[in-house]
Amino acid sequence: MSKSINVRTPSGDYEVLIGSNLLENYNFKWLVQNRQVLVVKDSMVPNEILENLNMSLANSEARQIEVLEIETSEKTKSFEGLMPIFEALNTNKFNRDCLLIGLGGGITTDMVGFVAASYLRGVDLIQIPTTLLSQVDAAIGGKTGINFSGSKNNIGAFYQPKLVLMDTETLKSLSEQDFIDGVAEIIKHSLIADQKLFANLENIFLNNKELSDEDLIQIIYESSLIKAFIVSNDEKEKGDRALLNFGHTFGHAFEAIQSLEGFSHGQAVGLGMICASNLSFLLEKISLEELEKIKNLIKSVGLPDELPENFNMEDFSEAMSRDKKILDKKLRFITLRGLGSAEITEDPPEDLVLKSINL
Ligand SMILES: NC(=O)c1ccc[n+]([C@@H]2O[C@H](COP(=O)([O-])OP(=O)(O)OC[C@H]3O[C@@H](n4cnc5c(N)ncnc54)[C@H](O)[C@@H]3O)[C@@H](O)[C@H]2O)c1
Repeated sequence: MSKSINVRTPSGDYEVLIGSNLLENYNFKWLVQNRQVLVVKDSMVPNEILENLNMSLANSEARQIEVLEIETSEKTKSFEGLMPIFEALNTNKFNRDCLLIGLGGGITTDMVGFVAASYLRGVDLIQIPTTLLSQVDAAIGGKTGINFSGSKNNIGAFYQPKLVLMDTETLKSLSEQDFIDGVAEIIKHSLIADQKLFANLENIFLNNKELSDEDLIQIIYESSLIKAFIVSNDEKEKGDRALLNFGHTFGHAFEAIQSLEGFSHGQAVGLGMICASNLSFLLEKISLEELEKIKNLIKSVGLPDELPENFNMEDFSEAMSRDKKILDKKLRFITLRGLGSAEITEDPPEDLVLKSINL
């Protein structure tokens, strides 16, 4: 079983293919025949995944296949971290007609995307995201980049791939926390755009259902469809793409404060979504019943629904006011209007914002 999404953007259209055992079966010939190919692989991705990919590439008559393994972290998502990739391209005399493949999580796809955007002013790119978060979020939409001087993703480019392959086999080796972090983004997509997906997630997680490959393919497909639809309409984040930040204004502040070091992105976004839902309730945009449903789902997937003991309100407020979404000193929040619909709320009353942190 596989599902396909056609992402249409002003800079080009491409297919997102979602399925199981895709890498060993995909015919890459239309993209790789007679071309030099560099696969950049996250070292945590199991070797069997790379072997399957290499076999398919070789069968597709690539002229040359090079593989570079990289260690990934938010620290190596940097100019220094890019150097080995540029060096591999340069040393192997890769020309403008070469093809780059990013095989890893969001850090890898962001970095490889940025190299593809800038090497010889742009070469073709295939993204093969191997974490749930990178499948439903990072690898779709063409945002690429690195961290610089203590800020996240502040250097980069919009650059669309030629193809995105999401193979559920790659998710089997993920840690539980990395898997849950991806589910947090899927919940986010359901809340801002798809009540049916929300109900589907409730059915799976409230009933503690074991996820089959088919379930996984279905929720990845529905979630990716939302991201693809939003970025197709707003490639460069001038309008609706901001809705994807639901839970992130609070979430970034949770992530940033020292007292919560060790909090994963998904955990911070999970708490952020509860705060943003509280705010939506206080602004009378969702009912108490809807608020409870959201909290139950977030809790049922293993995300925290309470502030950690070492939470410090002063640090949190400071982190909020540093957040990049402060526009002309206004705080911008994404709030819900019922389940499955969202809007931008600028500068809500401060007392309501503070109240919404009281989980
Ligand atoms: N470009 C965008 O639109 C966008 C959107 C959301 C997030 N991001 C970026 O994505 C990054 C987060 O993505 P992520 O959660 O995938 O992080 P990640 O790339 O750090 O991957 C998470 C962990 O999983 C490991 N891993 C990857 N694939 C694996 C596999 N198949 N088996 C076992 N382990 C594996 C990685 O080594 C890492 O330890 C952040 O840097 C964020 O800024 C970008």
